[in-house]
Amino acid sequence: MTPFELHVYLDDRKLLVEKHLESLIPSGQKPPQRLNAAIRHSLLGGGGKRLRPILVLASAEAVGGRVADLLPFACAMECIHTYSLIHDDLPAMDDDDLRRGVPTCHKAFDEATAILAGDALLTFAFELASTPIAGRSDGAVLAMIAQLARDAGIHGMVGGQMLDIQGENREITLAELQNIHIHKTGALIRAACLIGATLGGADETAIRHLNRYGEAFGLAFQITDDILDVVGDKRIMGKSPGNDQKKNKASYPALMGLPQARQEARNMVDEAMEALSSFPSAADPLRALASQLLDRTH
Ligand code: IPE
Ligand code: IPE
Ligand code: MG
Ligand code: MG
Ligand code: MG
Repeated sequence: MTPFELHVYLDDRKLLVEKHLESLIPSGQKPPQRLNAAIRHSLLGGGGKRLRPILVLASAEAVGGRVADLLPFACAMECIHTYSLIHDDLPAMDDDDLRRGVPTCHKAFDEATAILAGDALLTFAFELASTPIAGRSDGAVLAMIAQLARDAGIHGMVGGQMLDIQGENREITLAELQNIHIHKTGALIRAACLIGATLGGADETAIRHLNRYGEAFGLAFQITDDILDVVGDKRIMGKSPGNDQKKNKASYPALMGLPQARQEARNMVDEAMEALSSFPSAADPLRALASQLLDRTH
C-alpha cells in the first residue's frame, strides 16, 4: 500500500474548496463592486491553508461520508474564518498590515469596507450552511447550523477574541491563556470536525472521538501559531511575525518559553492522535494533519 501523502491530499482538497468558493462569490465587477472586490481580496486573493473546510471534509470521510455533499458547509466555515481574520487585523484589534501574503483588507481598501466585508462573509456563511444535504434531514442540518452559530459566537470564537484583547498588557495564568486559545481558535476548529462527522453520518461514539480530536487539534494549532509568531518567516507565513510581542499579547512562548510551548503542542497532538485510535485508514488524512502540526511553517 502506498503511504498516505498529505501534500497531495491537501492540494486536492484546497483546489476543491477554492473552486467552490470562486463559483459562489460574485465578481468584483458586480455591484456592490467595492464590497465584492474586498471579499474576493481576502477570501481568494492571497490563498490560505483552507484548514477548517478541509477538516470538515476529512472528518466526514473518516466516517464514510461523501465529500461533495459537505462542500457548501465546508465553504461556510472558510467564510467565517476569513471574516474573523479581516476583523482580527483591524487597527482596533491586532492592527496588522499583511495577511495571506497580501495587504490586509483595511489596507487594500479601508476600515469601513473591511468591517462590511467581514459582516458580509459572516452572514453569507449561514446562507451557505443552510444548503440541504442529500440523505440528511433538515433537522440534522439545522442542528449543525446552531452548533456553528454557538462556536463562532459569544461562547466560542468571538468570546475568545474578547478575552484575547482583554489579556493584552496583563499577566495571565496558563489556565486563562488556555481558555483564550480554546475559544478564539479552538472552537471553530472543533466545530469543523464535529459538523463534518455528524453530517458525514457518524454514530455517537465516533462523533465524540472526532469532537475530542478537534478540541486537541485546535489548541495545538493556536500554540503553534503563537510559536510561529516568534520563530516564523514572514514570506512563508504571509503575515508578519512579532506582532504578539509588539501588542504585548498573552501567548504560550511568552508565558512558558519556546521549549515548553513546543512540549504543550506535542502533548495536544498526542491527544488528537489518541482520539483517532479506533478509526480505520479512512481517518489517515486527519492523522497526517495532526502529526504535521508540530513542523508547520505557515
Ligand atoms: C490564522 O489561521 C488565525 C488563527 C486562528 C491562528 P490560519 O493559520 O488557518 O490562517 P490561513 O487560513 O491559513 O490564512
Ligand atoms: C486569531 O488569532 C484568532 C482569530 C482570528 C479568531 P491571532 O491573532 O493569533 O491570529 P493571527 O496570528 O493574526 O493569524
Ligand atoms: Mg488576534
Ligand atoms: Mg492576529
Ligand atoms: Mg497569531
